[in-house]
Amino acid sequence: MGQLVLGILASGRGSNYLAIQKAIDQGELAAKVAIVITDKPNAGVLSLTGSTPACCINPKEYASKHDFEQALADKLKEYGVELVVLAGFMRILTADFIQNFPGRILNIHPALLPSFPGLDAQGQAVRYGVKVSGCTVHFVDEGMDTGPIILQTPVPVLPTDTGETLAARILVAEHDTYKQAIAMFASGQLEIKGSQVIFKNEGVK
Ligand code: GRF
Repeated sequence: MGQLVLGILASGRGSNYLAIQKAIDQGELAAKVAIVITDKPNAGVLSLTGSTPACCINPKEYASKHDFEQALADKLKEYGVELVVLAGFMRILTADFIQNFPGRILNIHPALLPSFPGLDAQGQAVRYGVKVSGCTVHFVDEGMDTGPIILQTPVPVLPTDTGETLAARILVAEHDTYKQAIAMFASGQLEIKGSQVIFKNEGVK
């Protein structure tokens, strides 16, 4: 099996990127990260990329969202990206962008979707009082944290949790869940049927 070519989009510290890169380096994932792109000039992820190509595409330097997304898509294509991996990328992508990579964009969200979409999902979970939250890897559509769900990992919410302590525990689950979901994509196991993802090899969702 060949290596799946990944393009990572990240806005922040980049721990999910690092977990993916480590899984590749350790031979757990038949993929390679061709390019890491951030939309924030000072994003922490830029200090983690080592010899992997990385750049900032700053929306402030573009006249419109359309032009910014065009630059993103052009860069990803320039590097031959087959799967776009959103790893803490804090922007909603339009249908125009998404159609460049149909069924080839993944996102991770720190809650069990469809509960608690949007910002501060971990704080939302603590404030609501749920006893279990977790993380979700899903295909991206034009909605916010919508799109067909691939994998979810539950994480207990403790009575003493704050948004921060819960976020730290969920993050550990995120790293493993993202790796698994990318591996499933890489091995051709995932099929999108309507709003659902089917695992082809098992014939179950
Ligand atoms: C993660 O919690 C991810 O689920 C959310 O943003 C955070 C990014 O963390 N979308 P990192 O930059 O990968 O460390």
